[in-house]
Amino acid sequence: MDVGGIQALRAWRAAQTGTVALVPTMGALHSGHRALMARARASADVVVASIFVNPLQFGADEDFVRYPRPFSADLAACGEAGVDFVFAPALGEMYPSAPEVRVSSGRMGEVFEGASRPGHFDGVLTVVAKLFNLIAPHQAVFGLKDIQQFCLVQRMIADLDFGIELIGLPVVRDADGLAMSSRNQYLDAAERQCALAIPHALQAATAVAEQGSRPEAIEAAAREVLDSAHGLELDYLSLVEAATFRPCPPDFCGSTLLLVSANVGGTHLIDNAPIEL
Ligand code: PAF
Repeated sequence: MDVGGIQALRAWRAAQTGTVALVPTMGALHSGHRALMARARASADVVVASIFVNPLQFGADEDFVRYPRPFSADLAACGEAGVDFVFAPALGEMYPSAPEVRVSSGRMGEVFEGASRPGHFDGVLTVVAKLFNLIAPHQAVFGLKDIQQFCLVQRMIADLDFGIELIGLPVVRDADGLAMSSRNQYLDAAERQCALAIPHALQAATAVAEQGSRPEAIEAAAREVLDSAHGLELDYLSLVEAATFRPCPPDFCGSTLLLVSANVGGTHLIDNAPIEL
C-alpha cells in the first residue's frame, strides 16, 4: 500500500491502467468505512482512500480541532481493507490559501443539514470536486448515512459532468442499532443510550409506514419516540421526497426519506431511513 500527498498521488495515478475507485474519508475509520472499502475493492482494479479532515466543511463553532485523527490506526485499517493508495494530503497542500472559488451546493445544500450548518455542503462539494480532479476515479463510494451529502454529490457529478459512477452503501449500524459515525466516540454510555432513540424512531416510523400510513402519521410516530428521549435535542425530523429533498405532500406516492438530526450531549448525530409510499 502506498501513502502520500499530491505529488506521490499524481505519480502513482499516472502509472495506473485499470479502473480506480475512490473512498473519500476524514479518517477515524470504523466498520462503515471498511464496508465502503470492501465495496470499492469488489468493483475496481485499484482502490484509493483519502484521509483528509476538510476545514471548509466545519463551522466556526464545530469540532474541526477536536475531530479524531488516529492516523496510524487508519492506515492499518486501509491496509487490512486492501486499499492500494492512501491519499493523505497536508492541509497546506490542499489549501495553500483560502479558496476564492468554491462549489455552490444550491437550494438542496441550504435545507436540513445545510440549514443547521451554513456553508457545510459548499465545503463538502468543494473538497470532493478537488478529490475527483486529483484522483480521477472511475467510481466513488459513499455511505448513505450522510444521505443529503450523497444526493448533492450525485447532483454535482451530473451537473458538472464529472463522468464518475457514484455508488451508495446502506447505513452500517452497530449491534444496538446506532448508525456508525466517527463522532459516536464522543458519546459516553448514558448519551449513547439516549442516542438510540434515533434508530428506534426510524424503526417506529417505518413500521407505521408499512401499515399504509400517510406522511403526517409517519413523522408523528418518529417524533413520539424522539420526544421521550431526555437529553436528546431534536434538530430536524422530516419526511422528504427522495428526488428533491422537499417535504413530502400528504398525498405523495413514491420514494421518500425520513431524515433525523439531533444533538446528544453536544454531539451532532444524523440518520435516515428510506420509505416507499
Ligand atoms: O463524509 C465525509 O467523511 C466527508 O464529508 C467527505 C466526503 C470525506 C468530504 O470531506
